[in-house]
Amino acid sequence: MKASLYEGNKTFSVVEKEKEAPKAGDVRVKVAYCGVCGTDVHIYHGMMDQRVSIPETIGHEMSGIIDAVGEGVTEFKVGDKITVRPLDNRLEEASDKGYSHIAKKLKFIGIDSPGAMQQYWNVPAFTLHKLQETTDLKLAALIEPLSVACHDVRMGQLKAGETAVVSGGGPIGLLVAMVAKSKGANVIISEVNELRIKMAEEMGFEVVNPAKTDLVEYVDKKTNGALADVVFEVAGVQASLDITTEVVGIRGRIVLVAIYGEAKPVNLFKFFWKELRLIGARVYEKEDYEESIRLITENNYPFETIITDTKPLEQIQELFESIDTNPNGMKFLVDCQ
Ligand SMILES: NC(=O)c1ccc[n+]([C@@H]2O[C@H](COP(=O)([O-])OP(=O)(O)OC[C@H]3O[C@@H](n4cnc5c(N)ncnc54)[C@H](O)[C@@H]3O)[C@@H](O)[C@H]2O)c1
Ligand SMILES: [Zn+2]
Repeated sequence: MKASLYEGNKTFSVVEKEKEAPKAGDVRVKVAYCGVCGTDVHIYHGMMDQRVSIPETIGHEMSGIIDAVGEGVTEFKVGDKITVRPLDNRLEEASDKGYSHIAKKLKFIGIDSPGAMQQYWNVPAFTLHKLQETTDLKLAALIEPLSVACHDVRMGQLKAGETAVVSGGGPIGLLVAMVAKSKGANVIISEVNELRIKMAEEMGFEVVNPAKTDLVEYVDKKTNGALADVVFEVAGVQASLDITTEVVGIRGRIVLVAIYGEAKPVNLFKFFWKELRLIGARVYEKEDYEESIRLITENNYPFETIITDTKPLEQIQELFESIDTNPNGMKFLVDCQ
């Protein structure tokens, strides 16, 4: 079998190795596709070399078919289409209060342990979600990031008829927008990159460029002064953070999806004045995966359009190099077979 290895210093190798028999409680998956996450790009750029044990196979946005099952695995059989929820919460403690997806000793599979950018991948059976016979395996590589979006929308308690502003139209923002639409919300995307604005418009979204149009005025007009019910901060920049407290209306919710590595100022007066709520959201729980699998299988939203390039495993180096140079890029997939 072939496996890619991140070697450090913006370098991947592809090596030939023996398939391993799955240990008790594990399965061996024949990996179909693995998406490249923003985190994988950070790893490639050497920003996570302290956390990743180099050389290491990375990747966690995958789909595949069970190839072998280890002792004691009864819920899954060879041939099942699956995806992995890459959270290893085996060290969950009582103090985690049952929130295993954010447990203190949580390990992220594909970062803290070997990932999916290889032909065959051995993983614990408890991480698996079964797909439908009809689930497209290419689209299924989007289930992990779409589950992030399902979690964000659930945490924001977005309801039909409400107005949602999604600030940031990258892959995660677009997926949040699609899930928000599936709830019957009126969705406005705020994005500054012209190519991404065009892409979002082609997907049928209403898009505002806040660098050119006053977003608050725009949403104010659209909602007869009520402003947004929920704002999703998915851009990860101060300008976007600043606008959240302005564009949200009375008793509105701000869902913080973007990951900030350091403390940032926010206008706390607005939290008092409008009785706002700020909601943190980190990865996903089982039910978010189930909703995500349903959405991908039904395929009623332009998921396919988000996938801008797919390259075979052997070309993983070129794929990562192209991510840095391709301005049209959104979601890149590795074809692991
Ligand atoms: N909470 C979680 O568990 C979780 C999971 C996955 C990703 N994330 C985070 O979500 C964020 C988005 O991920 P992504 O892959 O879509 O990132 P991305 O960088 O591709 O997208 C961000 C988008 O925001 C746009 N933008 C920049 N400035 C803006 C502004 N002032 N107003 C509006 N838009 C602006 C950019 O042009 C870009 O298209 C990242 O911070 C990522 O780390 C969080
Ligand atoms: Zn990811």
